[in-house]
Amino acid sequence: MKRVLSAIQPTGDMHYGNYFGAVKNWVDLQDKYECVYGVVDYHAMTMPYNPKKLRENTWDVIFNLLAVGVNVENLFIQSLVPEHTELNWILSCFSSYGQLTRMTQFKDKSAQNKAGEESFISSGLLSYPILQAADILIYKADFVPVGKDQQQHLELTRNIAQRFNNQMGKEYFVLPEILFTETPKIMSTADPMKKMSKSAGEKHSISLFADEKVIMKRIKSAVTDTGEKTDTMSPGIANLFMLLKASNKMDIHTSLMDDYNNNALKYVDLKEAVAQTLIELSTQFKAKKAEFLTNKKDIKNQIKYSSSQIRKIAQETIKEVKELTGLGNVRF
Ligand code: TRP
Repeated sequence: MKRVLSAIQPTGDMHYGNYFGAVKNWVDLQDKYECVYGVVDYHAMTMPYNPKKLRENTWDVIFNLLAVGVNVENLFIQSLVPEHTELNWILSCFSSYGQLTRMTQFKDKSAQNKAGEESFISSGLLSYPILQAADILIYKADFVPVGKDQQQHLELTRNIAQRFNNQMGKEYFVLPEILFTETPKIMSTADPMKKMSKSAGEKHSISLFADEKVIMKRIKSAVTDTGEKTDTMSPGIANLFMLLKASNKMDIHTSLMDDYNNNALKYVDLKEAVAQTLIELSTQFKAKKAEFLTNKKDIKNQIKYSSSQIRKIAQETIKEVKELTGLGNVRF
């Protein structure tokens, strides 16, 4: 069975953009592949952060992932597998400094930090894609499901693996392939030209665990169109249809789309359908999360156990890498 690896940073609440754009796909992939999914807390230290919040967010993301259907045995917490940082160092010696400085995400984030109060740019922010490469290569993953924004990091990962393999004279690391699944890009209901995101402000995202009232408010106030008649569907309407489709509500989607094509669509009907759909989903997610949280201690132990099982793969890789690279090992 081919292996899939992906990871998510523990940066707080999860919204419908994250769910339909990525996490739902993680859940579906579990039927077809051996899946390893990490909550990457080491990665979350690259920008100024709060230690207490980091730990809280890490567990929160774990419970969120479980609530939406990720299997507990596929999940690990990155810092419970410290071999990632060991491989990170080794791979940093096979990574090009110049290439790192050309990463779009580094340029964006360092500009953001420079403009901020502290104007501090950690070297971790620069080397972060090497840690990402370590996350992937340590499990010899065949496929990595990520969005287009991570394509550059995946190419870097392949470059590092290739350079390592060349210098060691052995096809040791698997060159991972990016797994592009057609996932819908959900837009902000308040500004359908922008991606749904937390950082843009409260009204630009809808939490997976939002209350009925909040969902109603966001959908009822969703921007539809500017009133002008155009030949193409407005981004706001398209986004609402997209939410129905992504939720597999095809019957209602088809019937409302017929209305749209006959110029008979009432926006209130579309909004009502979307709101009910999301309320239904969030009700399920909330119930699941509450169920897991009543067994909090037990679940945490299960995650520690799954991390320790997944760690075995990482330890094996490190052992082999040390052998190949001339570092100390059992035969030293
Ligand atoms: N860099 C990714 C992001 O910002 C998160 C990530 C870290 C990741 N390690 C990974 C994604 C390994 C895929 C594989 O979203």
